[in-house]
Amino acid sequence: MPALVLLGAQWGDEGKGKATDLLGGSVDYVVRYQGGNNAGHTVVVGDQKYALHLLPSGILTPECTPVIGNGVVVDPSVLFSELNGLNERGVDTSKLLISGNAHIITPYNVTVDKVTERFLGKRKIGTTGRGIGPTYADKINRVGIRVQDLYDESILTQKVEAALDGKNQLLTKVFNRRAIEAEQIVEELLTYADRLRPYVADTVLVLNQALDDNKVVLFEGGQGTLLDIDHGTYPFVTSSNPTAGGACTGSGVGPTKISRVIGILKAYTTRVGAGPFPTELFDEDGAALRRIGHERGVTTGRDRRCGWFDAVIARYATRVNGLTDFFLTKLDVLTGWEQIPVCVAYEIDGKRVEELPYSQTDFHHAKPIYENLPGWSEDITKAKTFADLPKNAQAYVKALEEMSGAPISAIGVGPGRTETIEINSFI
Ligand code: GDP
Ligand code: IMO
Ligand code: MG
Repeated sequence: MPALVLLGAQWGDEGKGKATDLLGGSVDYVVRYQGGNNAGHTVVVGDQKYALHLLPSGILTPECTPVIGNGVVVDPSVLFSELNGLNERGVDTSKLLISGNAHIITPYNVTVDKVTERFLGKRKIGTTGRGIGPTYADKINRVGIRVQDLYDESILTQKVEAALDGKNQLLTKVFNRRAIEAEQIVEELLTYADRLRPYVADTVLVLNQALDDNKVVLFEGGQGTLLDIDHGTYPFVTSSNPTAGGACTGSGVGPTKISRVIGILKAYTTRVGAGPFPTELFDEDGAALRRIGHERGVTTGRDRRCGWFDAVIARYATRVNGLTDFFLTKLDVLTGWEQIPVCVAYEIDGKRVEELPYSQTDFHHAKPIYENLPGWSEDITKAKTFADLPKNAQAYVKALEEMSGAPISAIGVGPGRTETIEINSFI
């Protein structure tokens, strides 16, 4: 049986949490492979609403084993508060597995994230301030702290000292801040070691053995394709690879094991933080999308920037991820518009462009070319099959599918687990 990847096809917040939770009952493992608690995944089960940041959405399915892979960055204090919150609500979290090779977000990484953003001023990225970028920077610079380092105090001390050497120079001389004491950091990190121990595992071995035993493994991406450090709108991106390849490096499962790559695609577009966004709306339509779609960040509480659907981006997501399917979410939010504009191509310096330009300058100059599709006014939140949708909603979905380059296999018509139209089964 296969491994599947489920990832964001736009700039994040497409509804990955809901989609993962929906599949949770049919899979044995749900694996986060990149990012950290910059993610905010909302899952609605019955009248219960959960906001997950670091934990895989599979944690809410009792039969499923949730895994935090080697490619994830882990803030232990956030992990424990998330686990405590779930335990208080009666969710059993004892099956969780965490890779010993996952990197730890230390307090100094969080400090560096915040001071760097402040220092950038107008040029800031608008990060979540969770220490994500600096932790991945330490990993690549080979001065990162890994989960397994918590179990050897002497190595931990040496590593923290090495990591702080350069940072303290920067903090005191460039950012005018106080130096951070290695001893204090080591002391804090060691307080997490015992509670973490039962979860720590060789997740590469566990996942590959599971696949050998015909178990189903679902990889849950954080963020989205356009926030990818390599394939996104650099530098306005996150510091990891949410795209499909990241599932392999971030878990130690080879690409030949992956049979399905599902792109989660919102029926319109949103973005949090800075960076180009060709279909962004600054008018009443943008405000209406924000209001009706409840487009407010789960992690930072910031209003999300909103705009019409962008087919150029969807086509790009199909290509860089090798998408086999789309899961179209939030179609219900578009109910009530007489006409729904969809961006089919860009105009860049007077020329029509069908594909995402690789040049940052061109992308900043891209103006959307819209086609207006007829809207619908009927309530669609109770629709169970594609045929239950009004004709114009069906036509909207079909048009998006044609423009985006992969079949739309499921449609979200509300936040709840059951508010979904399944067209082709994923498993
Ligand atoms: P994620 O980060 O990709 O998991 O997405 P978020 O949870 O940050 O944002 C998606 C929001 O849309 C959440 O509040 C979901 O409950 C909600 N949602 C997901 N699918 C649908 C849908 O089909 N319709 C509606 N109305 N809301 C949805
Ligand atoms: P989910 O998983 C939307 C954005 C931030 C910022 C940029 C870099 O819920 O879809 P970072 O803190 O990662 O260094 O910030 O990336 N960002 C997200 N935007 N959804 C997310 O996660 C995001 N995670 C990071 O707003 O622009
Ligand atoms: Mg989110």
